[in-house]
Amino acid sequence: MGGSPIVLGIESSCDETGAGLVRDGRLLGHAVASSMDEHARYGGVVPEIASRAHVHAMGPVVRAALADAGLGLDDIGAVAVTTGPGLSGALHVGLAAAKSYAYTLGVPLYGVHHLAGHVAADTLEHGPLPDPCMVLIVSGGHTSLLLVRDLARDPIAHLGDTLDDAAGECFDKAARLLGLPYPGGPAIDRAARAGDPRAIAFPRPLSGPGDQRYAFSFSGLKTAVARHAQARGGAIEVGDAAASLQEAVADVLTAKAVAACREYGVRTLVVVGGVAANSRVRALAAERCAAAGIELRVPPPRLCTDNGAMIAAVGDLLVRSGAPAAPLDVSVDPSAPLEYAALHPVPARRAAVG
Ligand code: KG4
Ligand code: ZN
Repeated sequence: MGGSPIVLGIESSCDETGAGLVRDGRLLGHAVASSMDEHARYGGVVPEIASRAHVHAMGPVVRAALADAGLGLDDIGAVAVTTGPGLSGALHVGLAAAKSYAYTLGVPLYGVHHLAGHVAADTLEHGPLPDPCMVLIVSGGHTSLLLVRDLARDPIAHLGDTLDDAAGECFDKAARLLGLPYPGGPAIDRAARAGDPRAIAFPRPLSGPGDQRYAFSFSGLKTAVARHAQARGGAIEVGDAAASLQEAVADVLTAKAVAACREYGVRTLVVVGGVAANSRVRALAAERCAAAGIELRVPPPRLCTDNGAMIAAVGDLLVRSGAPAAPLDVSVDPSAPLEYAALHPVPARRAAVG
């Protein structure tokens, strides 16, 4: 077939087992399995259950992705895998699988930062990212405003991060307080459809003139929801609370992102991560970007939440930029900060046993 190799991407950092196949920026096929239902009764992801679910799902998901693409194992020319951040045991399952595929197929292995995967997801839908672009990452564990140049080569500049909870975490915790199921984000999105976003004046954290312009804070919002629920006792209007909370989160996220684009003279905003699937975040970002003359890019919802295609997309960028592959003793880094798209943590060398 010629050209650059087909990259298999593997994702297992949380409760989704994902595999995707990408070549030259094009998504060829992918598959995702989720253990979400097994965690629902605990109100959050249970690491041991997630790891075991990955062990069960990994082989079938890779096979399903290959079938979706109409390809076989022999067509794979490189393997990319999430090496962090995420749940340690869950990451190890994906990495062990990726090493096995890379070693037996005799192809290079690339360790990928999970959040860089979220950024690259958008390229599968909208083509290469312009240099520079502003990226708002909003997931269950992270909320950051990033200035991205060449994703495969350049360091990623953080303009601001959350000081406490992530936006998705705020939705998940608030949903619990409102008696909505896990995961909270989609449940709040659904409940909000029947509510009034102006019903409750929830705070807009870190939006004052003296505040850090691009930092985020969401734990106060969660507390505000708890206080509201407490004050109302059993008589809480869930739709209004969900819509008002969603409005506060969308307002803060999009106001800061658009302000950053203006200050840095960046003409493209990319919103990625699980919370980018939120209908109000998408609508308000579209409205404010249009008013400011900024191009907005948001991946389709199925590529916003965790998947293997986004990891393959980073692998494909790394391969085509000539980045070095990971050694076979590469390990995981469950709390890796986002500095580069490639993440190849290697364990400290041990003295040879003699
Ligand atoms: O990116 P992601 O799939 O996993 C992480 O890397 O964390 O994000 C998961 C987060 C969860 O907090 C979930 O509640 C949130 O994304 N989420 C949403 C929506 N869909 C997923 N939040 C708001 N509205 C949604 N429609
Ligand atoms: Zn994620």
